[in-house]
Amino acid sequence: MKKNVRKAVIAGNWKMNKTRPEAKALIEAMKPLVSDAGCEVVICTPYTNLETAVEMTEGTNIKVGAENVHFEKSGAFTGEISADMLTEIGVEYVIIGHSERRQYFGETDETVNKRTKAALSAGLKPIVCVGELLWERECNITEEVVGRQIKLDFYDVSAEDIKKCVIAYEPVWAIGTGKTATAEQAEEVCAFIRGKLADLYGNDVAQAVTVQYGGSMNAGNAAELLSKENIDGGLIGGASLKAPDFAEIVKAATNG
Ligand code: 13P
Repeated sequence: MKKNVRKAVIAGNWKMNKTRPEAKALIEAMKPLVSDAGCEVVICTPYTNLETAVEMTEGTNIKVGAENVHFEKSGAFTGEISADMLTEIGVEYVIIGHSERRQYFGETDETVNKRTKAALSAGLKPIVCVGELLWERECNITEEVVGRQIKLDFYDVSAEDIKKCVIAYEPVWAIGTGKTATAEQAEEVCAFIRGKLADLYGNDVAQAVTVQYGGSMNAGNAAELLSKENIDGGLIGGASLKAPDFAEIVKAATNG
């Protein structure tokens, strides 16, 4: 990452894991291990753990995020949660457009765009996920796919607002599979994303946006990934569920 220009963001995505007692134990174990982090530390938890996480991290350097948000402010949307509902309990970040939501819950670039704009209007910092399927990589259309996602997901998002967003490049084939993109593959796409942002917003804005890598990032491979110029942090699934592993990644971002 370019430390003089951007601050690294290490975010855990707990997905559908951790009951409340388990969440409490994980946060308690994590707090002392990341207290001297030189990067932004975020934990994105299931909705049911958000209030606990906010309470337990008050006065610490750990920020709390949700894993999704609806785009309407209120109304007949059974099962959904609005951006205002998140900010009122102290949530600061929200993951939007994760590939699991795109794959299993019909999320589209259009709804990702609407959610991103709703989150920004409420003062949340969106972590917007993009990335190609294995088949798309094999067909050599990774840049086409990711470029299209960037264009559509941030449609009508101003230059001022895009600077508040984090973009997570998560190749779908590397998520939960143990297959990490090589540091070179990850850097190539993260640099492409920054180039795309430069086309849309100009180079100064592109340089200010945090671009993370996600997909089987762990204590062993984080340092190499984070040493790359355009990889400004990580969105961590499995390894964020174990305090020592997550802390190791935070340490790699601090030293990198
Ligand atoms: P894993 O780190 O478990 O591969 O998950 C990555 C991810 O999907 C983070 O959002």
